[in-house]
Amino acid sequence: MTTEIGKDIAKARALLERGLLVAIPTETVYGLAANALDPDAVLQIFEVKQRPQFDPLIVHGADRDRLAEYIRNFPDWAVTLADKFWPGPLTIVLPKRDIIPDIVTSGLDTVAVRVPLNPLTHELLTQLEFPLAAPSANPFGYVSPTTPHHVMDQLCGKISYILDGGECAVGIESTIVAEQNGILHILRLGGTSVEEIESVIGQVMVSSGTNEGKHIPGSMKNHYATRTPLMLGAIDLQEHDPSTTGILSFQKRYPEIPLEHQIVLSTSGDLRKASKYLFAAMRHLDTLGLKVILAEEFPETGLGRAINDRLRRAAAIKEAGTDLAP
Ligand code: TXA
Ligand code: MG
Repeated sequence: MTTEIGKDIAKARALLERGLLVAIPTETVYGLAANALDPDAVLQIFEVKQRPQFDPLIVHGADRDRLAEYIRNFPDWAVTLADKFWPGPLTIVLPKRDIIPDIVTSGLDTVAVRVPLNPLTHELLTQLEFPLAAPSANPFGYVSPTTPHHVMDQLCGKISYILDGGECAVGIESTIVAEQNGILHILRLGGTSVEEIESVIGQVMVSSGTNEGKHIPGSMKNHYATRTPLMLGAIDLQEHDPSTTGILSFQKRYPEIPLEHQIVLSTSGDLRKASKYLFAAMRHLDTLGLKVILAEEFPETGLGRAINDRLRRAAAIKEAGTDLAP
């Protein structure tokens, strides 16, 4: 199969209507999309990604009204969040209707829904008569793609079309919110900060990273990993050979390390800019054949929390000694 990158919405639409996969741009990361109402189409997502079927998918729609067709009820808290943050990097978990196949939700009676913010994908979703199930368009366990070329690097030959929406503006996956026993939980930190959510809905529980393998399989530790071991925390250069060490830093340069091995995400300290380029930086450092990537910890505020979450998971996989990266 040849894989093409282009901006042809009609082509993307035709493929999706035939039950095939298309990579789509969103403001967070590129998604690997299929007709969410067609179990055979969705099955291909799991096959191409080599993703275990116990890890449920997010369903994407053009707007709140369309997504409302797939859920049993839209509680007030969810309407408030949707009105404030959609289209945008927020996913809301709600009770599903039977029309959503079990393969999408891994058999759960809830479905995760969101309205992405990208003009091409929005137009595509408006034209389609079904919503799109889409996980990040990377092999399971690896760093998520934030450009069409990232998708091409890994899924070339496995899908026929990548809709080119340029660089993702947010660069980190959506924040996932769910109600559990009457309390709102953030199941995964992401592109909408805890502070932003709390400013409209009051206090929430952040359970991201604490429920590995339970309610939210996608927050298992073995995610977002580079092939090169990544270590997170205070950078101590005494212990590493500068010629084989990479640095991922927030603002600071490390003169001991070759310039081409270090990426400074934002010299001005802008967390939005840092999150936008985080995954591209991890991917780039991973191509250099280094022995180790040392990553600084980011401030635990705003998008810094989500950045630290991704870096922790990338670091955890190596500590655990399992390598799920391709
Ligand atoms: O920004 C994003 O959310 C991107 C773009 C493409 O929209 N998508 C994304 O999908 O990150 P994925 O598959 O990599 O992560 C989705 C995660 C799942 O791993 C799962 O943990 C959680 O969403 N999820 C999905 N359905 C759920 C449900 N019913 N209950 C709890 N968690 C759910
Ligand atoms: Mg993913």
